[in-house]
Amino acid sequence: MPTGTILVTGALGQIGSELVPELKQRKGGDAVVLSDIKAPPAGAGLEGAFEHVDCTDLNQLIEVVRRHGVTTIYHMAALLSAVAEERPQVAWQINMAGLYNVLEAARQCGAAVFFPSSIGAFGPTTPRDHTPQVTIQRPNTIYGVTKVAGELLCDYYAHRFGVDTRGLRLPGLISYVTPPGGGTTDYAVEIFYHALRYGRYNCFLEPDTRLDMMYMPDATRAMGELMDAEPGRLSVRNAYNVSAMSITPQELAAEIRKHIPEFTIAYDVDPVLQAIADSWPRSLDDSAARQDWGWQPCYDLAAMTADMIAKLKSRFGG
Ligand SMILES: NC(=O)c1ccc[n+]([C@@H]2O[C@H](COP(=O)([O-])OP(=O)(O)OC[C@H]3O[C@@H](n4cnc5c(N)ncnc54)[C@H](O)[C@@H]3O)[C@@H](O)[C@H]2O)c1
Repeated sequence: MPTGTILVTGALGQIGSELVPELKQRKGGDAVVLSDIKAPPAGAGLEGAFEHVDCTDLNQLIEVVRRHGVTTIYHMAALLSAVAEERPQVAWQINMAGLYNVLEAARQCGAAVFFPSSIGAFGPTTPRDHTPQVTIQRPNTIYGVTKVAGELLCDYYAHRFGVDTRGLRLPGLISYVTPPGGGTTDYAVEIFYHALRYGRYNCFLEPDTRLDMMYMPDATRAMGELMDAEPGRLSVRNAYNVSAMSITPQELAAEIRKHIPEFTIAYDVDPVLQAIADSWPRSLDDSAARQDWGWQPCYDLAAMTADMIAKLKSRFGG
């Protein structure tokens, strides 16, 4: 059960911006050091330490880990699926060299590591419904390749060097604080902004594309709970399946219409993103996470939609 200072890499992204407040609440404001390759926006009022860290630079990482006495690294820096497919060489460098450096820094400095894997770690030959914890992982995207290799590397560092590595295979994440960073499930965030601003949305996936999704408060809580779990209870060191809701664009649109009756959706399918979505699971079997450390989601489609609309309305002042 790691305690002490936490370093979050890629802290200014979609997950990091909500993970940091969750961790500060769990561990205290002084316990969390934020880092990213980009500078925080002017006037962001970020409390606590911020460090400029490029994860592809091992020396920079080790220096920050040592200087702050970091005992746990939450490694959020990465390129996401859609962006990675446009720049596969850069994606390999950031996703693989970044994780390797984080694991090395952890090994050399005695820190624990949280690694966010993804439903993208599965592929077209994986069983798509109730996808088991241990199953075929042959993704056909560079993003997925880096996630499978990353899971294996975490397993290796745990068993070879005794590094306390823990991870989750996260589904598509829906949130309102920071816009998503270029993933295949981004439609499920954009749709809310467009529904509230314009009353209509042009979706880049087919209406019946079913994918696993999760509301961000469930995801950040899952990360904190996994990292706080007794190490002896963890049977999985690469990444646990976690699941909350399995939804399609037309089901999400119908739920939004309960709050905004005039909302309409049209479909302008992006073949690259559709192919990625068609290679991913429709729902994950997360029984190992439930058994080992008590994972339970709080938000289903209805609860997430109501909260997203309420939060965005208050942000837009409407
Ligand atoms: N958002 C999702 O739906 C989702 C789902 C499953 C898994 N994940 C995984 O969770 C992690 C975080 O995702 P996110 O949605 O917050 O991504 P994001 O794109 O919103 O944020 C990533 C952050 O990493 C930073 N970054 C990029 N290159 C860097 C480098 N070399 N050094 C340091 N920082 C760098 C970026 O500036 C950005 O702030 C990723 O590993 C992603 O694959 C995300």
